[in-house]
Amino acid sequence: MSRPVRIATAQYAPAVGDLEGNRRAALHWIEAAAAEGASLLVLPELASSGYVFESDEEAAGLAEPTTGAFVAEVAGACGRHDLVVCAGVNEQAGDCRHNSAVLIGAGGVVATYRKLHLFNDEQSWFRAGGGVPVAELPFGRVGMLICFDLWFPEVARSLALQGAEIICVPTNWVSSFKRTVYDDRGYCQGDYMAMAAAAANGCVVACADRVGTERGVRFLGASIIVGADGWPVAGPAPAADEALLVAEVDLDSVETARRRTPRNHLLADRRPEAYTDTVVEAR
Ligand code: ACM
Repeated sequence: MSRPVRIATAQYAPAVGDLEGNRRAALHWIEAAAAEGASLLVLPELASSGYVFESDEEAAGLAEPTTGAFVAEVAGACGRHDLVVCAGVNEQAGDCRHNSAVLIGAGGVVATYRKLHLFNDEQSWFRAGGGVPVAELPFGRVGMLICFDLWFPEVARSLALQGAEIICVPTNWVSSFKRTVYDDRGYCQGDYMAMAAAAANGCVVACADRVGTERGVRFLGASIIVGADGWPVAGPAPAADEALLVAEVDLDSVETARRRTPRNHLLADRRPEAYTDTVVEAR
């Protein structure tokens, strides 16, 4: 038996402040992914609003509830093209604003993940989330995390322990605070974090980064789709160009990857009772 699923990630440059243009761009990439036969498409972090805000007022003015125009138009396109989209959105939820990833199908929102680990100035605009939902879709179980969350292995692990087979990663990898931005193969550190998350958990990890420079912040491209064995199946994409990555993965490879040897399993072999009291005093 096999469970093939075609996954796409769209790498482009959402524009800060251009809500209508960002909706149009999302629809364009949905059409492009559908033309490639994808069942699941990942869009970048904050694809609805852009990333680099100048003030809280600006961030607030560009936020929308998940009942708003961005999700509604994406859901309409999902219905027309029979796919599911994971999109980064600037989410207004009551009095709170979140940097969220929303899984959207023809019927609207399937699941919402709110970024747990807010990076740098995001802490001025957003409130951190508090959970890691996993959605059961017709083709497999899907979880989400966002950009800087990749540097906290607990997030991907929690998703895997809850049954996630695919982890969607809307991201806006930045060049700031990094000694080395790309290695000589064109991989950025985010690519390696995605590969580590996939290898450690036996999950497919699909990262959609953005490109371009916004108010002096440079984004890295290098989007990637990683197989459950931890090795890339598409990408890294170019550093500065728009790109659609597409890969067909067999979700039966998830259990194969977790069962590393006849006597090992990445999740079942965990020793949580031993992950404590590990400090040994040097004499
Ligand atoms: C990031 O978390 N967007 C760097």
